[in-house]
Amino acid sequence: MSERLKKIAEFVKARRAATEAAGHISPGFDYRWKHTLRVVQYGKRLAETEGADVEVVMAACILHDISKFDAEDYGREHGRVSARIARPFLERQGDEKETMDNILYSIAAHVDDKADFEHPVTVESKIVSDADNIDRFGPYRLLLLFNETEDYEKLIEQASNRLLTLKKYREGGIMGTKSGEELFNRQLDLQITFLERLTEDSRLTVEI
Ligand SMILES: [Fe+2]
Ligand SMILES: [Fe+2]
Repeated sequence: MSERLKKIAEFVKARRAATEAAGHISPGFDYRWKHTLRVVQYGKRLAETEGADVEVVMAACILHDISKFDAEDYGREHGRVSARIARPFLERQGDEKETMDNILYSIAAHVDDKADFEHPVTVESKIVSDADNIDRFGPYRLLLLFNETEDYEKLIEQASNRLLTLKKYREGGIMGTKSGEELFNRQLDLQITFLERLTEDSRLTVEI
């Protein structure tokens, strides 16, 4: 990883450390940083196959959820808030304006394709959003979904609802890039198979 990207990672980690030092210790921070690391790797892979700017994609992936390390929950605004946090930092790094704007747009629009400033959609911004979605539907997220309950009936109900959503996503059309769609479908297929088998086995869990 380049020195520049390492500096960006340090910036995100410092933000998290400051929030923790202020007394806001969230167990979600650990998941969030690990999610970020995987998004960076997915982004790199997609940028290489799509012929996009790898450095821009990786920089945006490192920063995309930085606002999630604040004590406040910004909900669907968190992409735009992340871009606002990143802007003064990137300005200090002295990147070319075009590069910086592409990074910031990719961060701002990663949740719902909307930024609060004018910028065209770029292959890099599509990739950041795709990389994020690929990890959001990966096996780690599955672990997180199902490891905190003993209420199996509720869990099975959630599983069947989730199955419907996943199957709808599997019909395609929601990812920005072709290679993103391939990786996304791989995640969906794993979850669909798992949830179908879980639902199947739940029918065998009959009291005697
Ligand atoms: Fe996000
Ligand atoms: Fe994310």
